[in-house]
Amino acid sequence: MKNLLAQKTLQFAVKQNEAARSAAEHADIIAEPGFGKHFTDHMVDICWSEMGGWHRPRVQPYGPIELDPAAAVLHYGQEIFEGLKAYRHTDGSIWSFRPEANAARMQRSAVRMALPELPTEYFIEALKQLIAVDSRWVPSAAETSLYFRPFMFAKEAFLGVRPAKKVNFYVIASPAAAYFTGGLAPISIWLSTNYARAGKGGTGAAKTGGNYASGLVAQQEAYEHGCAQVLFLDSVEGKYIEELGGMNVVLVKKDGTLVTPESDSILAGITRDSILQLAEDRGHKVERRKVSIDEWRDGVASGDITEVFACGTAAIVTPIGRLVGADFEAGDADAAAGPLTLSLREELTDIQYGRRPDPHGWMMRLDA
Ligand SMILES: Cc1ncc(COP(=O)(O)O)c(C=O)c1O
Repeated sequence: MKNLLAQKTLQFAVKQNEAARSAAEHADIIAEPGFGKHFTDHMVDICWSEMGGWHRPRVQPYGPIELDPAAAVLHYGQEIFEGLKAYRHTDGSIWSFRPEANAARMQRSAVRMALPELPTEYFIEALKQLIAVDSRWVPSAAETSLYFRPFMFAKEAFLGVRPAKKVNFYVIASPAAAYFTGGLAPISIWLSTNYARAGKGGTGAAKTGGNYASGLVAQQEAYEHGCAQVLFLDSVEGKYIEELGGMNVVLVKKDGTLVTPESDSILAGITRDSILQLAEDRGHKVERRKVSIDEWRDGVASGDITEVFACGTAAIVTPIGRLVGADFEAGDADAAAGPLTLSLREELTDIQYGRRPDPHGWMMRLDA
């Protein structure tokens, strides 16, 4: 569904939060932000209607959203979201990493979920407007960040099953602690064979809430088996690896080749794309193709696969030590993180935090 007024410049109205947190409250939160627990003082809200396109952009105090009980999102789940971060560099400036890629992915998600596409310039302006009022919430301690959660949902109060004619786009933001404290410990992964995350022709490639809701029972199964995350297989043959509940997967072979699943039912991660680009820059071969679970299991057993890692915005890169299935185990939970995993993670985070040059022009300044 195309928006009608994509060419119009958005003029944001800004309403300051009179009840913004005090300096002392702010300092307490920033000292121990956790993840997704605390939110900044403001949020962005842009309306869309079938007739009016995108309109009424505003920055307003963070707070509850009023919804009619018949709002379509509550019944049919017409919803999409994104996740990206703002990083504070040592000179105090605030930067985001490839926000145009998140905007483009949100547009693809919108098309799949019959929602309006938010133009890239509106997406980026929304981040800048939020930073203009909430910059104090971007922490400066090592490996900390401000996590942006842009989202869009069907607000129209109507119980018929059809795309909503009234939609809102929001951005909220949450200061985030360093993901790993005390070193990168490899995690164990549970191979789900009872549940699939996405089906052929389904919504797997879209960032929509239902994909995460349907993965929760599989995630619970993972916890019950002492694993931190769940790995999903394709739903047609049940033999090709897709992705984790919230991260993409990359295998590293003995000869330095990086292999990652190609499928139209996984979320195209921006972290994965960036990591693979950095590996290619170093001369590594990268294969994007179907990868069977047997290739992983047998490769780890034979030593042909030397490292496996997961990647995504929240943790950047997480080493995977052990794969656990209903009737097998591969790898070693106590193994140290692999050297390529560690050095690619370091290179990417160095770029994000402005500690080394940005050869691909991935960083975008938000506060100037
Ligand atoms: C299902 C899923 N796969 C992969 C990713 C990784 O995407 P990105 O690197 O853009 O954060 C995410 C989000 O973090 C996700 O939710």
